[in-house]
Amino acid sequence: MAETNDHSVANGALLFDPPSNLQNEAHVKSMQQYQKMYKQSIEDPETFWREISAQFYWKSPPTGKFFEYNFDVGKGPISIKWMAGAKTNICYNMLDRHIANGLGDKVAFYWEGNDPNDFGKVTYSELLARVCKFSNVLKNLGISRGDRVAIYMPMILDLSVAMLACARIGAIHSIVFAGYSSESLAERILDATCSAIITADGVWRGTKLLNLKKIVDDALKICDEKGHRVEKCVVVRHLSPSDEVVKTNVNGDIEEEPEACRPSRKLKINWQAGRDIWWHEMMTSVSTECEPEWMDAEDPLFMLYTSGSTGKPKGVLHTIGGYMLYTATTFKFVFDYQPEDVYWCTADVGWITGHSYVTYGPLGNGATGLIFEGTPFYPDAGRFWEIVDKYRVTKFYTAPTAIRALMKFGDDFVNKYKRDSLKILGTVGEPINPEAWLWYYRVVGNSKCAIVDTFWQTETGGHVLTPLPGATPTKPGSATFPFFGVIPALLTEEGKVIEGPGEGYLVFKQPWPSLMRTVYGNQERFETTYFKKFPGYYCTGDGAKRDEDGYIWITGRIDDMVNVSGHLLSTAEVESALITHKNVAEAASVSHPHSIKGECIYCFVTLKQGAEYTNDLVTELKNIVRAKIGPFAQPDFLQNAPALPKTRSGKIMRRILRKIAVGDRNLGDTSTLADESVIDVLFQNRPNNA
Ligand code: PRX
Repeated sequence: MAETNDHSVANGALLFDPPSNLQNEAHVKSMQQYQKMYKQSIEDPETFWREISAQFYWKSPPTGKFFEYNFDVGKGPISIKWMAGAKTNICYNMLDRHIANGLGDKVAFYWEGNDPNDFGKVTYSELLARVCKFSNVLKNLGISRGDRVAIYMPMILDLSVAMLACARIGAIHSIVFAGYSSESLAERILDATCSAIITADGVWRGTKLLNLKKIVDDALKICDEKGHRVEKCVVVRHLSPSDEVVKTNVNGDIEEEPEACRPSRKLKINWQAGRDIWWHEMMTSVSTECEPEWMDAEDPLFMLYTSGSTGKPKGVLHTIGGYMLYTATTFKFVFDYQPEDVYWCTADVGWITGHSYVTYGPLGNGATGLIFEGTPFYPDAGRFWEIVDKYRVTKFYTAPTAIRALMKFGDDFVNKYKRDSLKILGTVGEPINPEAWLWYYRVVGNSKCAIVDTFWQTETGGHVLTPLPGATPTKPGSATFPFFGVIPALLTEEGKVIEGPGEGYLVFKQPWPSLMRTVYGNQERFETTYFKKFPGYYCTGDGAKRDEDGYIWITGRIDDMVNVSGHLLSTAEVESALITHKNVAEAASVSHPHSIKGECIYCFVTLKQGAEYTNDLVTELKNIVRAKIGPFAQPDFLQNAPALPKTRSGKIMRRILRKIAVGDRNLGDTSTLADESVIDVLFQNRPNNA
């Protein structure tokens, strides 16, 4: 395939200029323009963001300073405030504002079901009516401003309705990805003391049927046992027709496998009278109008849990005003939003990418988005590109793990479809290897689309390092340069700033509007995790290097987190699941490279005296992790470890375990090991497939 706009640069890396057709229409057309805007955004953030804030609706302006913060633990509590005292409502800004500007009949979302024959759409006016109705439902259930509402739902339009309704009445949503186990869900409900939960009966993912209601029932039982009663459980009837719902205490199993994956008529669910309520029944008797609750810009919008290195998830808290500004602005510039776009982000709304770039960022711009319920492989590995052609998607955003998985199926699945509507292809969640980048660029994008490799985190709320598609020449594998308002730095272990080329800890010097405000209910943990190590900086937990041209390359986590298919897991979380098995004395888990997932989990397990390491035990241990965290956390490798390598003070040396996991005998300094003889045994016990 002819490539017209890539050429080698001095340091050997490929450099791709922005596609010229895109450049002509782009909001930012050159590096000079980017640099000028960037300079203003960091030298005078107040003016920069004040101008942007004027595009939104505010009931009243900020009462104090537009922007104030403290990033230095030595100078008092860490605090970040944007537009404090200003009154607004984010749902109003996502819907009513656009309708007032004539966008009422514009499609807000297309919906594509797991089955290619299930699809639908909703316009801005229709979405507002549904959101208002559900806002009234929530109010009727006694939910009001400041209450926490858990959401555990599949990728259906009602998920967006539920989150926007919470925002409309000032309730704080806490969405839990509907792939987490009942225990993980319960842990999150308890931490946030949610008073209600919104879910659906079940969902098809490819050929698998998930009984979501059963998982919720189990989670609520755990909450009850721990003394917290969730009063209301609203259930969307997505699969089960009313006559098949078994309102007795059955175990929720499927009666038989259906022939095709059309919405099942076989799903049985439990029903607890008084607590469980059908969504559709509540929606019949409520008004399509609901006055928004006028909130402070610094009131919480949502919390979203992310893994923490101690094993206990952290409730990352985002507030209304800054998050609204930043997600809309990054969406506009990074996907170079144009009114006729059809934009598709494949992320589940249960992760931050789905919050910021399925829901709030696109709606903040009045864009047309697409919500997809299924998987890239069902009915076959051409599904993504079939959908791209069906809706003529112009901007597409997915994860490197999906790209790598699809690459394995070969180019034919892609080439079967035209994909001629595509202009920008984005990636997020983990470092993208140049091979996958180039396949995305050449095969999916026909060498005509800009690739935007966006680096960010649950904590950052929106993109922080990213190319701008009409301006930034890209290098495969580099997230390139900071977005407006973001000041990255690389630090040495001692906290010295590395100027020019080099490698170090990636930190940020001052807040942009959507940086997290705290860890819900635990300000101390917020400060310790992100601000203690390098006073004056927000610490990402990632390593990065800067090359001769100033491009930033993320090298990966520098803490005990594993990035499995773009989802962060803490090794401690997996270890605490493993040690709940009666035969396990101790466990240590580390990251191991994986050709599709990027990283996977490799566990070393020390058994109690007399216990035997068998294949059955390995299966049991994998199942424990699935049950305690979720199927996506299942370890790929487990090995018997009669002992673990420890320092004399008893600390597990994970650096050595990582080497053993990949079979690398180049261990470096082992002088601090208490007992070197364990090493050989561990090498001998490596599983054959590792
Ligand atoms: O390690 C970085 C990696 O994902 C982490 C954040 O994970 P999470 O909070 O779950 O949010 C994922 C979606 C925003 C980061 O600390 N990461 C994310 N994007 C990239 C990345 N690593 C390299 N390149 C990226 N583009």
